[in-house]
Amino acid sequence: MTEERMISPKLREEELALDTSLRPRRLADFIGQDRIKENLKIVIEAAKERGEALDHVLLYGPPGLGKTTLAHCVATGMNVNIKVTAGPAIERAGDLAAILTNLRKGDVLFIDEVHRLGRAIEETLYPVMEDFALDIIIGKGPSARSLRLKLLHFTIIGATTRLALMTSPLRARFGVVYRVDFYDQPAMEAIVRRSARILGVGIDEGGVREIARRARGTPRVANRLLKRVRDYAQVRAEGRITEAVAEKALAMLEVDELGLDDIDRRVLATIIEKFEGGPVGLETIAAALSEESDTIMDVVEPYLLQLGFLDRTPRGRVATRRAYQHLGVPYEERPGQAALF
Ligand SMILES: Nc1ncnc2c1ncn2[C@@H]1O[C@H](COP(=O)(O)OP(=O)(O)OP(=O)(O)O)[C@@H](O)[C@H]1O
Ligand SMILES: [Mg+2]
Repeated sequence: MTEERMISPKLREEELALDTSLRPRRLADFIGQDRIKENLKIVIEAAKERGEALDHVLLYGPPGLGKTTLAHCVATGMNVNIKVTAGPAIERAGDLAAILTNLRKGDVLFIDEVHRLGRAIEETLYPVMEDFALDIIIGKGPSARSLRLKLLHFTIIGATTRLALMTSPLRARFGVVYRVDFYDQPAMEAIVRRSARILGVGIDEGGVREIARRARGTPRVANRLLKRVRDYAQVRAEGRITEAVAEKALAMLEVDELGLDDIDRRVLATIIEKFEGGPVGLETIAAALSEESDTIMDVVEPYLLQLGFLDRTPRGRVATRRAYQHLGVPYEERPGQAALF
């Protein structure tokens, strides 16, 4: 089920190549996120002028919005190499030392899922990020001694979908922190147009609009929908994507007008039907649906919150009037409920 999901912003194995071929390489080609782009251009230019490494950068936000892409664009902009790793991949202090001592001056070290770094690794990183000093322990037992290695200045770019799980000492060591947000309709349309051009797919403005509108503000989802609609167009419509073709293809994929799919609707329906609209805890919703709470938290909730279909309250999740309307369920004002909004 999870594997078949159209809207899942998480990357699937088979999509890696597509993801890479459609990925903008330079900030100038990166569509949307204007505030982040403007800021990055300034800090990049300033660092280059001073001949220094860029400050450490933290990017956070829901999956598929361009965090990894931005990290690569920054490295390109700085004319440096980028080395890619992930929090859970760095198991021992030795792994970290090997990575760090191989970086050249100014290089970018991209750490994905930075909230999942082990405790010991994280603590080793503090002096690294602050003073470019790596403390390593040599030997074991009574003869063990600590050695302080000087590193060349470089830049860590951390990415996470879960800022709340990051410790504050780690967060505090990033000089620049940006929240990557869902894209608006014009930006999504520009992304669909660009991807269609790269893939060599014929598409008209109606087709662009329709795919952009249903891609839940997420470039990765837009690219995935575009690819599926292209298949449909090839088999049923002589290869050209029009509004009507996009509509039919997306209906077949069970992606609705707003880009919600089966699991989004089931989450809302569960809150409304089983828990009288909430408040209900995330774990309870997940258990009722036999889904993982992580999937609901990372993939389903951010977009439902963005649409105003869901509210997070101290006592749990609440389905809003708009969610009832979207599912076609009559909404009854209940005593106490209104106070939650
Ligand atoms: N601003 C953009 N313009 C055009 N395409 C984009 C943009 N941002 C992302 N994309 C496309 O979406 C894909 C997913 O982006 P990316 O891998 O950078 O997301 P992410 O935020 O790192 O996701 P995750 O949290 O899952 O790692 C990219 O390969 C690229 O094709
Ligand atoms: Mg990524």
